[in-house]
Amino acid sequence: MHNSLPTAVRIVEVGPRDGLQNEANPISTDTRVELINRLASAGVSAIESGSFVSPKWVPQMASSAAVFANIQRHTGVIYSALTPNMKGFEAAVLAGVDEVAVFAAASEGFSQKNINCSIDESIERFKPVVTAAREQGLPVRGYISCVVGCPYDGDIEPSKVLNVCQQLLALGCYEVSLGDTTGVATPGSMGTLLNTLLRDIPAQQLALHCHDTYGQALANILIGLQAGIATVDSSIAGLGGCPYARGATGNVATEDVVYMLEGMGISTGINLSQLVDTGRWISAQLGRETGSRVGRAL
Ligand code: HMG
Ligand code: MG
Repeated sequence: MHNSLPTAVRIVEVGPRDGLQNEANPISTDTRVELINRLASAGVSAIESGSFVSPKWVPQMASSAAVFANIQRHTGVIYSALTPNMKGFEAAVLAGVDEVAVFAAASEGFSQKNINCSIDESIERFKPVVTAAREQGLPVRGYISCVVGCPYDGDIEPSKVLNVCQQLLALGCYEVSLGDTTGVATPGSMGTLLNTLLRDIPAQQLALHCHDTYGQALANILIGLQAGIATVDSSIAGLGGCPYARGATGNVATEDVVYMLEGMGISTGINLSQLVDTGRWISAQLGRETGSRVGRAL
């Protein structure tokens, strides 16, 4: 690990996908579109805007094509989506996504519950997706869920994460986002994981995707920054959770991450006050208080 902090961090906003996929009540396409437009106006330059998965599995993301058709594209903003297989990839291309993401797990239990196949089978399914994406010039991001702990299989060995990470990078993913799906990681376990990964993988190819269930996300992100990781996933107002990880709450709130980074002199290109307004707006739409501590404080 090295101790020089990055001077700039790329925030990948996952609220419109990871956040809204877990809402009990259906969210209108208009609300999804307006959320994405507001985030782009606030300066967010990478927005995971939907997901092309089975509507039987995740009905909340069913109208992702309509979302993509109606957003106002801001120059310089990457609008991405999840694509677990070729069917999803083809729909995503038709919808005009700028980037796709495939998602694997470090545990067999979560892989089965989330995408109905083993880890090896998932890698096989991703192969044609990555090949097709590269032919079309679309970047592919990889995710790994349950990098520290799994709700089904318990503690996860860092070597398992390393193995899946190397496979995703070998397929052609430009970056792998490390998902602490249930938010169980602490700076201790996150540090141990990153020590293992960074022996073989450059920090530039890693991102952190911390859910904040146990209130550890900002501390874990700080460990990542100190290790040279400069891409952080977060969700406006702390929205979200995973439908296949019971009890897991949302991602760390984007407002809280941006506040911390600004305080550390690390730039994000995001306007915090507009971001906070957006967090308040979407929380009001959902009929609840914002999950962002900064959003409440400001
Ligand atoms: P399956 O049932 O094994 O798939 O599901 P299948 O190929 O056997 O197809 C079954 C049916 O689904 C067929 O329809 C297919 O056409 C349809 P039928 O003939 O029964 O009418 N289907 C699709 N429809 C639309 N789009 C598609 C698609 N694929 C098949 N792409 C599958 C496998 C992966 C599709 C399913 O398990 C699924 O959709 N899972 C959803 C998983 C998901 O979205 N989870 C949440 C996102 S991941 C996450 O939150 C974690 C992350 O945030 C990181 C972290 O925090 O850890 C990324
Ligand atoms: Mg997630």
